[in-house]
Amino acid sequence: MIGIGVDYYPEHWDRELWEEDARLMKESGVNVVRMAEFAWCRMEPEEGRFDFGWLDDAIDLFQRNGIQVVLGVPTMTPPAWLTQRYPDVLPDLPGQASSRPGVRGHRCYNSPSMRRFTRIITERMAMRYGKHPAVIGWQTDNEFMLHMCRCRHCKNGFVEWLRNEYGTLERLNREWGTVVWSGEFSDWEQIGLHETPERYMNPSLLLDYRRFQSESVVNFQRVQVEEIRKHSEGQWITHNTWTAPLPLDLAALYGELDFASIDYYPASSADKAVSNPYSGALLLDLIRGIKGKNFWVMEQYGGPPGSWMPTWPSPYPGFIRAFAWQSISRGADGVLFFRWRSGVAGAEQFWHGLIDHGNVPGRRLAEFRRFAEEAGALSERLYGSRVENEAAILYDFDSHTALQLQPQVDGFDYYEHMKAVHRSFQKLGIGVDVLHTPDQIASRYKLLVIPSLFVIGEHTAAKIRSFVEQGGTVVATPRTGVKRTNNQCHMLQLPGPLADCFGVRVSEYDPIGPGVHAIQDESGNLYSCGLWNDLLETTSAEPIARHAESFYKGTPAVTRNRLGSGQAYYVGTFPEEAYLRSLFGMIAGETGIEARTDLPEGVHLSRRKRGTESVLFVLNLSREPNAVQLERPMKSLLTGTIAAPNLELEPYGVEILEIDS
Ligand code: GAL
Ligand code: ZN
Repeated sequence: MIGIGVDYYPEHWDRELWEEDARLMKESGVNVVRMAEFAWCRMEPEEGRFDFGWLDDAIDLFQRNGIQVVLGVPTMTPPAWLTQRYPDVLPDLPGQASSRPGVRGHRCYNSPSMRRFTRIITERMAMRYGKHPAVIGWQTDNEFMLHMCRCRHCKNGFVEWLRNEYGTLERLNREWGTVVWSGEFSDWEQIGLHETPERYMNPSLLLDYRRFQSESVVNFQRVQVEEIRKHSEGQWITHNTWTAPLPLDLAALYGELDFASIDYYPASSADKAVSNPYSGALLLDLIRGIKGKNFWVMEQYGGPPGSWMPTWPSPYPGFIRAFAWQSISRGADGVLFFRWRSGVAGAEQFWHGLIDHGNVPGRRLAEFRRFAEEAGALSERLYGSRVENEAAILYDFDSHTALQLQPQVDGFDYYEHMKAVHRSFQKLGIGVDVLHTPDQIASRYKLLVIPSLFVIGEHTAAKIRSFVEQGGTVVATPRTGVKRTNNQCHMLQLPGPLADCFGVRVSEYDPIGPGVHAIQDESGNLYSCGLWNDLLETTSAEPIARHAESFYKGTPAVTRNRLGSGQAYYVGTFPEEAYLRSLFGMIAGETGIEARTDLPEGVHLSRRKRGTESVLFVLNLSREPNAVQLERPMKSLLTGTIAAPNLELEPYGVEILEIDS
């Protein structure tokens, strides 16, 4: 069954309201609620004194109403008694005074007290609810973020991590290149983070520190996972990741969980109305890609966000429903809206829920009801069906992190570049998987893009080369192959270890930043490009576009190499989207991937399949009406009628069609 529901905070409301809320939820189509992820002070009001009575009552109430429950472990909000008595719980974050209870996120993942009390509260919860028939699953913590904590436990933990990784100081000094600026360590105790601005620090140390902190999150989470697994039966465990991609190793974070989850807040403002649905599509693909399987949305946009920023504009009619369908169209098997009702108290009073403070159901709840009714009706058909694509993009935690540390050129951002690549595919109607590790590179993909794959070790290079040799097509962009995994530069001409695969050498590069240049393709078309130009020298590749400006006018800018039974394209600049579309469109033609050039901006296509059954989602995520040409009349699963080949969609219109094969 598709999970359809809301995030609910019984501890915020008088008990009389609970009954009324549960009844209205049920009537509105809610079949699951998420609760308790911040309620530590109510579950354990004093050290060792537990009170689960209220939570028992809330869970039982929902159970009576036929609503299932997801429980959050409340470790993002350690209560006041805990931080008062065990101050090592608090992180020491550069530039920030340690935050205090009543706020959130004020916990160091490596604090022994934090780990100890995390185990206790999780164990108590899991013992109590691990076999409760209404509880279907668990969420660890809430929106983990990487902390650059400098407390003594983090420092000691880091040193231990390094000893494990490098064995000797001599080796560490060599791998980090600490001889530069006389930074060689002669004692493990000398290593740590200081007040020094990061741009003056050793980038190898900084990347390792982030790897260590990312691993600390996973180790911290493991305490929760162990207790839940020990005491529960038939319940799943997930974690809700924050909307923006984080410098957190998501593949590792979700490695021990059953599936991934995301909190999804598409922008409701006019200025982002066109671009944002494309960024959202990438985000959802990225989440599905972590485990290569369906995911949940633990927080879906239910009302205008606000509070620590000016409140966002009210969602356009259809917005709430359409974006919830976008989540499902890209692989969500559960969608919970944040939140049932806007809070009347606390720092987040103006992050609006489906219902406003006045508690009178309005337009937003009505839209939720419509979505819930539709998704409920299609639940059996859709639940567990999969998104399967022939094109993939590799997202790399090491490269993202290293490029955040050293952004290379004014205006460049790794994730923005990913967005441009992904958006180009979406506009061609080509579905894309986002891979998180080179081990996910598989021969079922015909096309793989490795945007700015800055950090490349031997293993990754070998994977990519063999993908091509065996018939795949790979596309690389500037700043690929620059670094070794220790964050030192490869002492090789670029694209470093992949130079032979692409049959090119970057003889020189020109970081042009916000300046605009141009390239010219073989048919003489000019396209603008910017940020960074690689001047290419071909070894075995052939040029397919050349620089059209500056002293290197005429120098190859984009090349194609044949290797084994595959091909490797090197795009030596950041071209405008129109060029990427034309390139990917051409490659799609060569490799037999279905693409279309007539999709109106804002119209998103996606498919879910099970066996021979296949469903096509056509979403108009835009404020304008749009029309799409279908290959033939198809049956609408929403209305049961046959949709004409010229399918007209109202603003934020949704169509779900049956494809028989
Ligand atoms: C999420 C968070 C929620 C709530 C929401 C709205 O980031 O997980 O607890 O704060 O944003 O701000
Ligand atoms: Zn710490």
